[in-house]
Amino acid sequence: MGLEEAVEALADRWPLFAVGAATLVGASLVRHLYYLKVLYSIPVLGEELGGKEKRRAAYLMGARKLYLDGYKQFKDTVYRITTTKDSHTTIVVSPKFLTELQKLPDDVVSFQAAVNETIEAKHTKLGTESAHDVARSVKSDLTPALVRLNPTIAEEVNEAMDLELPIGADWTEININKALLRIVGMVSGRIFIGPELCREEEYLDASINYTIDVMTAVREINTLRWFRDLRAPYLPSVKKLKGRVKQALNFLQPVVQKRMAMARDDVKTDRPDDMLQWFMEGKLKKGAAKAEDVDYFARVQLGLSFAAIHTTTLTTTNAFYSLAATPEIVPELRAEIREVLAESGGLFTSAALQKMKKLDSFLRETSRLYPPSHTSFQRKALKNITLSNGQVIPAGVLIEVAAVGVNHDPAIHADDATFDPLRFYRPRSEAEAESGAAAGAANQFVSVNQAHLTFGYGRHACPGRFFAANEIKMIMANALLRYDVRNVDGVEGRIPNLEFGNINVPDGSKSLLFRKVPL
Ligand code: HEM
Ligand SMILES: *[C@@H]1O[C@H](CO)[C@@H](O)[C@H](O)[C@H]1NC(C)=O
Ligand SMILES: *[C@@H]1O[C@H](CO)[C@@H](O)[C@H](O)[C@H]1NC(C)=O
Ligand SMILES: *[C@@H]1O[C@H](CO)[C@@H](O)[C@H](O)[C@H]1NC(C)=O
Repeated sequence: MGLEEAVEALADRWPLFAVGAATLVGASLVRHLYYLKVLYSIPVLGEELGGKEKRRAAYLMGARKLYLDGYKQFKDTVYRITTTKDSHTTIVVSPKFLTELQKLPDDVVSFQAAVNETIEAKHTKLGTESAHDVARSVKSDLTPALVRLNPTIAEEVNEAMDLELPIGADWTEININKALLRIVGMVSGRIFIGPELCREEEYLDASINYTIDVMTAVREINTLRWFRDLRAPYLPSVKKLKGRVKQALNFLQPVVQKRMAMARDDVKTDRPDDMLQWFMEGKLKKGAAKAEDVDYFARVQLGLSFAAIHTTTLTTTNAFYSLAATPEIVPELRAEIREVLAESGGLFTSAALQKMKKLDSFLRETSRLYPPSHTSFQRKALKNITLSNGQVIPAGVLIEVAAVGVNHDPAIHADDATFDPLRFYRPRSEAEAESGAAAGAANQFVSVNQAHLTFGYGRHACPGRFFAANEIKMIMANALLRYDVRNVDGVEGRIPNLEFGNINVPDGSKSLLFRKVPL
C-alpha cells in the first residue's frame, strides 16, 4: 500500500479525525470562531435540499437552476452556495455590489488569488508569476496593435480555414470544435509567437493540450476529499501535467533563446511583430541571456495559450451551433458581411469589423445564452469586507456574481429564453442613429457592463476580448461566405451544451454538416 492509499484508507475510516485536524491546525481558534459567526449569518441556498452532500450533488448537475433561484430569492443581498469544491466557502453577491467591489484594491478583493484556487495552483504547481505581465502586455501591446495586425490575423484565419476545413460541394460532416481548436491555435500562435512556428504540430500540441491537461488535473484534484496536500502529487493527471509543462518548455526555450539573440542585435529592420517580441523588448535588459529569462518567456507563452485558445474556441463553437439552429438569420448576416467587405475593398479592417453589427449582435446573443460559465467576477476576499448594506464578507471566502441570473433576467432581456440574433443590433443601431457611434457601445459583444459579464467586470475584465472578437468575426464571416451549415439529420434545434457545476461548454463530440455555398 502506497502512502496515498494509506492516507485515503485512514481518512475513510476516521473522517472526524480528519475534520478535527484540518480545523484546529488550519487557523487559530478565535479567528476561526469569528469567521464561522459571520459566515453562519449568511443564508445558504437550497437548505431544503438536505445536507451538504445533497447540495453538492445538486450543484454538480444543476448549478444553473440553483443560481437562477438564488438570483430571485436574494436579489439585493448575498448567499452562500455549496459548490463541488470543499476547500473554500463561496458567497454569491448581487450584481448591484459590482460597482463598489470593483473599486477595492487587489489586496482586498483578489482576482489572482481566485485564479490560484481555480487552477489549484498549490497542487498543480503552475507558476503565476507572469500573470500580471501577460495581462498588461495584452492590454497595452496587443489591443492597440490590432488596427495594424488585422490584415495578418485575417490572412492566417483564411489559410488556417483552408487547411482545416477542406469542404466541397457535397454535404460533409465536420467536428467543428476540433477544427476550430486548430484554427484558433494557429491564429493565436501567429500573433503570439510568429509565422514560423504557429502551424508546427509541436507548437499546436503544446499550446492546445496544455490547457486540457491543466483542467484534467484540476478536476482530479477536486475529487480528493481528504489529505489533498499529501495525495495530489501522486495523481496520474498531475504527473502528466508536469511532463506536459516540461515538454512545452523544451520546445519553446530554444525558440525564445534564438529570439533573444535577435532582440539584442541592434538591427532594427525586419523585427518580428508578435507578442513574444514585444514582451522581450519590454523586459530585456542589456547583457547576456539568462536561463531564467528563457524559462520566464516560455512560461508567458503557456499562460497566453491558456487564456486564449479554449475560451475563443468554445465561444466560436457555440456560434456555429447557434447558426446551424437559426438558418433564417443567415441571408441577413451574409448580406451585411458582403456589403461591408465591398466597401473596404475586401479587407477585414478595424472599421469593417466594427460595421458588422448584425454579426456582432449574433455573437453577443450567443454569449448571453451560452457563456462559458454561469458565474463571473470570481474573486477571493483577502481582507474582511463590509458591503454598503452592512453585510460583512469575511476574509478567506471566494465571491462571485451569478451571470446566468443577469442573462435570464426578463427585466434586462425581454423574452429571455428566446435566441434573438438581432436583440442587441436593434438598440445599438437606434442609439447610434440618435446620438452617434459611442451611444451604441453598451450593446456590443466586447462591452463589459452589469448586463454583460461574459468577459468579467472591472479592472481585470478580459484584456484579450478585442483580439478574440476580431478573430471570431473573421472566422464566422469567412464561414458564412464560404459554406452552408446545418445540423446533421435527426438533430432538431440547438445542440445542447454540457453543464457541470458552474461550467457551461458546447458538446465537442458533436458534428455539423457543411458544404460549399453553391454558385
Ligand atoms: C471569447 C474568448 C474569451 C473569453 C470568453 C474570455 C473570458 C475571460 C474572463 C471571464 C476573464 C476574467 C475576467 C474577470 O474575472 O473580470 C478573462 C481574463 C483574461 N483573459 Fe480572456 N477571454 C477570452 C479570450 C482571451 C484572449 C484571446 C486572450 C489573450 C490574447 C485573453 C487573455 C486574458 C487575460 C490575460 C486575462 C487576465 C486579466 C487580468 O489578469 O487582469 N482572453 N478572460
Ligand atoms: C498565486 O500563487 C502563486 C504561486 O503559484 C503565488 O506566488 C502568488 O502569490 C499567489 N497569488 C495570490 C494573490 O495569492
Ligand atoms: C493533443 O493530445 C491528443 C492525445 O493526447 C492528441 O491526439 C492530439 O493530437 C493532441 N493535439 C494536438 C493539436 O497535437
Ligand atoms: C477579520 O476580522 C476579525 C475580527 O475583527 C479579525 O480577527 C481578523 O483578523 C480579520 N481578518 C483579516 C484578514 O483582516
